[in-house]
Amino acid sequence: MHLETLPRFPLACLPTPWAELPALTRTLRGPRLLIKRDDQTGLALGGNKVRKLEFLVGQALAEGADTLVTAGAAQSNHCRQTAAAAARAGLRCELILNGKQPEIPEGNLLLDRLFGAQEYWIERAQRAATFAALETQLRALGHRPHLIPVGGSNGVGATGYVVAMQELMAQLHATGQRVDHIVFGSSSGGTQAGILLGARVAGFTGRLHGISIDKNDPEHLEYEIEVAQIANACAEYIGYDTHFTPAEVTMVYGFAGEGYGMVGDLEREAIYLMARQEGILLDPVYAGRAFGGLIHLIRRGTFRPEETVLFWHTGGAPALFAYARDLF
Ligand SMILES: Cc1ncc(COP(=O)(O)O)c(C=O)c1O
Repeated sequence: MHLETLPRFPLACLPTPWAELPALTRTLRGPRLLIKRDDQTGLALGGNKVRKLEFLVGQALAEGADTLVTAGAAQSNHCRQTAAAAARAGLRCELILNGKQPEIPEGNLLLDRLFGAQEYWIERAQRAATFAALETQLRALGHRPHLIPVGGSNGVGATGYVVAMQELMAQLHATGQRVDHIVFGSSSGGTQAGILLGARVAGFTGRLHGISIDKNDPEHLEYEIEVAQIANACAEYIGYDTHFTPAEVTMVYGFAGEGYGMVGDLEREAIYLMARQEGILLDPVYAGRAFGGLIHLIRRGTFRPEETVLFWHTGGAPALFAYARDLF
């Protein structure tokens, strides 16, 4: 394994803290709850993509790129963190965003602008074609673009979570903690792929539960196939000889509600509880939904009372400022 020698551009404040959630443990009358604070990775108000971007930007710089191109929703946390990473690395940033440009930029979009990213507004179905067209256009103008997939989810980006898993294991060891389950939100799959591979590399023996944020197709294993593919690409990238099958990916369905970015009672309850009992902000799209899913799993008796469950907070709070209408 050659993790230490891979191109990496430092962006994150690491290690992120972990903490107990004593009030929520009492309120939910379930297992002992811990939290890993990747909402505090530091860059641009934090989040999980900062870890991925250390390796993605490292690769872009190693290839001599001068522009990062990526895509996402209007309130994409990934786009916000990519725009900030580009600014930090002295690169240009071009963002392909879904839908119509809002009159007033709020939440993540406001921050994309502050970081100086260029925006292209498209219909989601045009995303792949726009990536290709933009690449051609940028090359014709003499630029050297580096394309980052949605969510930074490829083998290179997932490397950030292999390292994160090693970081968590070191924290648990140092304080004699045993964690039986790790729960986190999963969307484009790179975070889960990195945690899955990182767990194997670091010898974590507990269970991993990815809460599906936007997909609801347990039958076809489409998403499990994707996560396993990213984990395998990542294993190859870091030089670790292993292989994952889709059956080894635990995706928890049933919490995608009305669809991506649609806030319902599940997210509201999770956001309120975490804010009012622990003073921690969750976001309406990812961490709020993921923690809402965890609350339901606890109520369903998925975990034994003597077990310890770690919720991996993946960030996203800047989106709260674009969701005021949905939160009350
Ligand atoms: C706050 C937050 N949590 C979780 C995720 C999901 O991570 P992944 O796309 O790697 O599955 C994202 C993705 O954008 C995110 O922004």
